[in-house]
Amino acid sequence: MTKKITDLEKKKNDYEKKLNKYTDEYNDANNSYNKLITIKKEYDDLLRCLEDKRKQYDKEFNNYNKKKEKALSSKNKLDLSKKDYELMCNYENRKKLFKKPVLTNLFIEVTSRCNAFCEHCGSRCDAKQQGEEIEAEYLKKTLKEIADKYDASKVFLDITGGEPTIRKDLFDIMKYAVSLGFKWGMTSNGMLITKSVMKKIEEAEMSTVSISIDGLAETHEKFRKVPNSFPRILKAIKMLQDSPVVKIVQVTTVVNQRNIDQLEEIYQMLLDNGVKYWRVVNCDPIGRANDNSNILLSVDQYKYIFDFIREKQAENKMTAITYGCSHYLGLDLEKTVRQNYFFCMAGLNVGSILSNGDIFVCPNVPRRPELIQGNIRKDSFVDVWEKKFKPFRSEELRANPTCKKCKHWKYCGGDSLHTYNFDENKPNICLKEIF
Ligand SMILES: C[S@@+](CC[C@H](N)C(=O)[O-])C[C@H]1O[C@@H](n2cnc3c(N)ncnc32)[C@H](O)[C@@H]1O
Ligand code: SF4
Ligand code: SF4
Repeated sequence: MTKKITDLEKKKNDYEKKLNKYTDEYNDANNSYNKLITIKKEYDDLLRCLEDKRKQYDKEFNNYNKKKEKALSSKNKLDLSKKDYELMCNYENRKKLFKKPVLTNLFIEVTSRCNAFCEHCGSRCDAKQQGEEIEAEYLKKTLKEIADKYDASKVFLDITGGEPTIRKDLFDIMKYAVSLGFKWGMTSNGMLITKSVMKKIEEAEMSTVSISIDGLAETHEKFRKVPNSFPRILKAIKMLQDSPVVKIVQVTTVVNQRNIDQLEEIYQMLLDNGVKYWRVVNCDPIGRANDNSNILLSVDQYKYIFDFIREKQAENKMTAITYGCSHYLGLDLEKTVRQNYFFCMAGLNVGSILSNGDIFVCPNVPRRPELIQGNIRKDSFVDVWEKKFKPFRSEELRANPTCKKCKHWKYCGGDSLHTYNFDENKPNICLKEIF
């Protein structure tokens, strides 16, 4: 009996031990479970928080992208509308000038004689030309009349030819012009500018000059048909650069089939000679260039010139590299290769006196009798400028059916007058292919 009780008590103790052990294990498990629940809760909270953060980030990222796109598109819109706006002003300005022209540039073709015989010469000049040369007295009378009527300091005199330096009384005429308040500049082939001519240039206070260089030495001399002229031209450029009187010494290069492959070398040569202003223009189909049409450029070559000018402008090694005033270049290119928008100023800001005294627009415009406005031998330049010049002060002169329908008509107006084909009533140059 006693043994039975002892066995039972032992069993009871065993059970109590087991009970304690399982109670401990239960408590541990319970604690672990509670911990698990807490951790799970914390984990869920973290996930939720992460999700919230991700959503917030996505939202912010989308907003940022939207804002960026909006900013970019409004920037584009701004650029485009700014350009549109400026082009519109350009157009409106041109229309205003139709009614109220302002003479800012007077070209005086002082001679049609020339010491060169360039393949491209738009004025077909040569040494044998026996054309009239308007006498100094008529030129002086006209300059006085212009100075009496307008502010002479606002009418720039562009002296051209032929070769202006051939004319013996040129500097006497220009001294008189300066005494009236005019400023003047000259385009020259540079071959005749010696030390003594330099002295006269300074006495007559010439402020700007453009010297023509159409290639490296051999190409230039062949093109202009004057052997051994190149070193003389470089010497002339040096003297002009050293002058305290001459403010701007520019080189003009007329790009054509003979020199287009030399542009890079010409650029280096000009840099080596300290040239700071370079005007790079295309050879236009005018005068002798029409007879030698194999020197004219293709539209792709125009594009090449524009790219070249922009590349060199970016190098910033010269003060100014620019394309001439000719030709409408399309919205993208306008106001890049030259500082202003295309604007054919013939008869609006620009007038001329030709070597025979005829009153005209730019000397490069075809000299059709119906376009000649008068002659300073018999007419007052100011009267003619103010009362005649009608064909140049309306859109009609170049309003051919193709151009009138063109969406660039307002900005282009049928391109430059000097390359307009009046016989066929169409522009000889339209660069639409490249815009
Ligand atoms: C007619 S020249 C007179 C001045 C000077 N004899 C000279 O050659 O510089 C004036 C400018 O017109 C440029 N020129 C002549 N024919 C041209 C043409 N077909 N196309 C573009 N420019 C031309 C000349 O190269 C020069 O730079
Ligand atoms: S471009 Fe100048 S240098 Fe050449 S022929 Fe004509 S006027 Fe003379
Ligand atoms: S078609 Fe006429 S108006 Fe149009 S770009 Fe050509 S030249 Fe200018």
